[in-house]
Amino acid sequence: MGFDCTACHADLVSAELPHATPVAKVDCGTCHESAVAAFDESIHAVARRNGAAHVAATCVDCHSTHDIRSASDPESRTYPLTLPTTCNRCHADEETIAKGHIAIGNVGDLFKDSIHGRAISRSGLLVAANCTSCHGAHDIRKKDDSQSRVFRANIPQVCGTCHEGIHTQFTRGAHGAAWASGQTDAPVCSDCHSAHSIERADVGSWELDTVNECGTCHLDKIKTYRDTFHGQVTSLGFVRVAKCSDCHGAHEVLPKTDERSMIAPGRVLSTCQTCHEGATAGFAEYDPHADKDNRERNPELYYASRFMHWLLIGVFGFFGLHAVLWLPRSAMERRRRHEPPPRPRDENE
Ligand code: HEC
Ligand code: HEC
Ligand code: HEC
Ligand code: HEC
Ligand code: HEC
Ligand code: HEC
Ligand code: HEC
Ligand code: HEC
Ligand code: HEC
Ligand code: HEC
Repeated sequence: MGFDCTACHADLVSAELPHATPVAKVDCGTCHESAVAAFDESIHAVARRNGAAHVAATCVDCHSTHDIRSASDPESRTYPLTLPTTCNRCHADEETIAKGHIAIGNVGDLFKDSIHGRAISRSGLLVAANCTSCHGAHDIRKKDDSQSRVFRANIPQVCGTCHEGIHTQFTRGAHGAAWASGQTDAPVCSDCHSAHSIERADVGSWELDTVNECGTCHLDKIKTYRDTFHGQVTSLGFVRVAKCSDCHGAHEVLPKTDERSMIAPGRVLSTCQTCHEGATAGFAEYDPHADKDNRERNPELYYASRFMHWLLIGVFGFFGLHAVLWLPRSAMERRRRHEPPPRPRDENE
């Protein structure tokens, strides 16, 4: 960097040579006030101050001591393609995780295999998300701190810095609207996609998992969905059949009463037609959430189901009774068959 050694090793400015060892801690803050101020707020600095985990990162862990370079230098530890390796020296290291009590565990290995991780390590994509894109560099905070970038309510905004189009759709949809009105029981990006093991959206196993994810909140809807043809086939592991998002959308999910909704009366037919090409208006009247226990909503299904129910009870009841009554009779019959035939009477008797 072209400084005198003593610019950093200020304790040695007037020291006699050879100076005493070890050298004192270097105070980067004499020149980088704002970086230090931001860092002082971070979980890494807090942990160091508490002494609880002195394995937490300091300036030199991310920047080195004498080979400090700008983040735009490919040789730098903070270069976007290298940064995950810098964080993962600790966050993928079991010993540091244990010593530092990092509750979430090894996120480094998860991240490596994610779409973002591979975009960095294999595709060399500078614009893919690295740890800093989602967590910041200096003011990294715990997820339950409301000022953290990864605090639940802030997550859509963070992903939206790159996925802007999807963030816009999400904000327009019912889930985004719920967040905007202060409801906290609506999903955010990481509920459906995870945070560190994000996969491509067309990976079959992920698509099927997401159906269950919708079901963790919409309990009644997944129950009725599972009773339908679509739901039974997806539960067997086939993705071609309609999943929740095929009929509702993934991000701009809207209630039926909103005319832009994929299930609004004026649009539902075209939604079915994306897969059922020849579908007619009659076809779209099929109820994808038919509930056999709901008389108001599905009277025909309700009565048919009750009829089948009682028919079943009737049939089993009748034949059950029949069998029960038959039992003593058949036992008697069998005993009779095993009895020795009556002896012929003795002439002399
Ligand atoms: C940009 C600041 C900076 C400059 C300039 C700098 N050092 Fe250092 N040096 C450090 C830091 C940081 C440490 C580690 C101590 C600590 O944790 O604070 C260190 C540690 C050392 C150590 C202890 C062994 C080690 O590597 O950890 C020696 C020896 C040393 N420096 C020599 C030098 C010499 C000689 C120069 C001038 C050529 C120099 N330093 C210039 C920041 C600097
Ligand atoms: C004596 C003042 C001084 C001290 C002490 C100092 N730096 Fe710097 N640092 C600078 C200056 C000036 C630059 C700009 C150099 C340039 O642009 O070539 C710089 C550049 C940097 C950069 C690259 C910034 C960029 O993106 O271009 C980083 C990172 C950095 N310093 C980190 C540190 C760390 C970590 C320490 C403590 C170990 C430290 N500095 C100590 C003055 C200092
Ligand atoms: C957890 C890793 C990490 C720690 C700890 C860390 N930095 Fe950084 N720092 C980065 C990354 C990544 C960048 C580049 C990305 C950016 O600009 O946001 C950066 C950028 C910088 C820069 C250049 C840009 C700027 O903000 O001015 C300076 C100077 C700097 N750091 C100084 C420091 C100092 C001083 C400390 C200690 C108080 C420190 N850093 C601690 C990761 C870290
Ligand atoms: C030198 C090891 C080290 C490095 C490098 C490091 N961390 Fe950490 N980090 C820790 C430790 C230890 C904790 C636990 C602090 C605590 O909670 O007491 C932690 C905590 C965290 C937390 C909060 C989680 C928690 O359980 O407290 C986040 C988020 C985090 N680090 C992200 C990063 C990111 C992003 C980078 C790279 C830019 C990074 N860390 C670099 C050691 C490190
Ligand atoms: C695409 C965004 C994204 C990227 C990239 C990312 N994270 Fe995270 N991270 C999150 C979110 C969101 C959370 C909140 C917890 C959750 O939902 O699992 C989190 C949580 C964490 C935590 C636990 C925080 C706590 O308070 O318990 C650590 C530690 C962490 N990340 C480290 C890293 C490291 C290290 C990297 C890089 C290898 C990284 N993250 C990359 C989004 C990201
Ligand atoms: C309720 C679950 C859910 C939430 C919340 C969610 N997504 Fe998605 N996301 C999906 C589903 C399902 C798909 C697959 C879409 C498809 O195939 O039509 C998807 C697809 C994607 C894709 C790939 C684009 C595509 O259509 O192939 C990206 C990128 C994405 N989501 C990012 C985000 C971001 C960013 C957020 C937060 C603003 C978010 N998602 C919130 C379920 C969700
Ligand atoms: C720094 C920018 C950036 C941030 C922040 C970011 N992403 Fe990405 N994301 C990308 C890039 C670039 C790709 C494309 C990678 C590829 O295709 O190789 C991608 C790909 C994806 C995909 C796969 C899309 C597909 O085609 O199937 C999903 C899903 C995704 N991101 C979700 C998220 C979520 C959720 C968050 C927030 C937790 C997030 N991303 C944050 C840049 C980002
Ligand atoms: C974390 C819980 C959660 C998850 C996961 C979730 N939702 Fe929602 N959903 C909500 C909440 C909360 C609302 C807003 C309901 C309200 O305002 O009454 C909502 C609203 C809706 C609506 C609008 C209907 C209405 O009652 O407002 C539809 C349709 C919907 N979600 C479908 C889905 C689909 C499809 C998925 C999966 C891709 C999904 N949801 C995942 C919580 C969730
Ligand atoms: C084949 C298409 C289709 C599939 C698959 C589907 N739905 Fe629906 N969903 C609909 C239709 C059509 C309606 C409107 C039914 C009505 O008239 O009430 C609806 C209604 C809803 C509603 C209430 C919306 C409102 O405005 O009242 C929610 C919530 C919902 N579905 C969630 C889900 C979830 C969760 C899944 C997956 C487990 C799912 N849906 C699967 C088509 C579908
Ligand atoms: C993502 C594609 C997709 C969407 C969207 C979709 N379906 Fe299906 N559905 C299928 C597939 C695949 C089958 C399996 C039978 C087949 O190949 O025709 C099926 C089967 C059915 C069946 C039972 C078998 C039959 O053909 O009679 C009904 C009823 C049905 N769908 C109704 C609907 C209705 C109503 C909608 C719109 C609300 C809809 N589907 C939307 C893919 C879809």
